[in-house]
Amino acid sequence: MSGHLITLINGDGIGKEVIPAARRVLEALDLPLTFQDADAGFGTFERSGDALPLETIRLCEASDSILFGATQSPLSKVAGYRSPILRLRQHFDLFANLRPAVGNGVDLLIVRENTEGMYSGRERLEDGGATAILDRVITARASERIARAACEQAQRRRRKLTIVHKANVLKETCGLFRQTALMVTSAYPDLAVDELLVDTAALKLVQDARPFDVLVTTNLFGDILSDLAAGLTGGLGLAASANVGSGRIGVFEPVHGSAPDIAGQGTADPRAAILSAALLLDHLSYADQAARVRAVTYATPHTGSTAATTAGIIAALPTA
Ligand code: IPM
Ligand code: MN
Repeated sequence: MSGHLITLINGDGIGKEVIPAARRVLEALDLPLTFQDADAGFGTFERSGDALPLETIRLCEASDSILFGATQSPLSKVAGYRSPILRLRQHFDLFANLRPAVGNGVDLLIVRENTEGMYSGRERLEDGGATAILDRVITARASERIARAACEQAQRRRRKLTIVHKANVLKETCGLFRQTALMVTSAYPDLAVDELLVDTAALKLVQDARPFDVLVTTNLFGDILSDLAAGLTGGLGLAASANVGSGRIGVFEPVHGSAPDIAGQGTADPRAAILSAALLLDHLSYADQAARVRAVTYATPHTGSTAATTAGIIAALPTA
């Protein structure tokens, strides 16, 4: 069969607005794409008792990739609830989270390790809540594959790679990440490689992010720095991401959350979801169409209306 099947997971809040907008853009491209909807999120959890029902996992497995909106994450523990995006990353072993930040003269890519670190899921309380015991798992295998993914990305870009860690304090875990990444990069003599402590990286990014090309880091640092980088380049409205592994299936999602405060008003900025759809097109080897969607989306301001911004993007898409 030719063509590709894409699973759309709206999720909660503005996910229900921005994913249909991204679908409209994909449909306007006249590619052999078909779509199916699947449920996940807090609403799904309240309805069915599972935030990521087995049916959704099966639909994802049977498709070529997934476009994911956003889900609402409760701030305190809710028995039985675990973030669907974390479960999808884990289920499909999507170890690389690629987060481009483009705008205001900045063009960088954060390559975030996506499977371990502070997101190991192994946390427990002791002493009546005064102490949290958290396993910050860092393995040589995961560090090696994320470093290699970052090197490959850098080779397609400006050939600069910064390894970001906190090995001065987290000597074992970040030490292993750092050593492994340095070892991997030594096999890429065409790359200019340097390293920064994560606090210094935050400072330098805020001072002047323009010299940065690719940054590779562990899970939580990548989560934080990718929001920071989004803030430098025009906000979360333009922040897209790809979760990819070594298999066929990737999950593509805007970096923003479900924004319950503005949900249902038709005002959400659809561009991060549309740029995530462009990353999906790249993944499916529709590179020309991805480039066209990207160029138009970066050039289109958000007018404050999801529908109008989406229509503006579609109208500006050059035909093939
Ligand atoms: C992100 C989000 C997620 C993360 C949350 C919703 C679990 O913040 O994709 O950046 O921390 O990875
Ligand atoms: Mn985040």
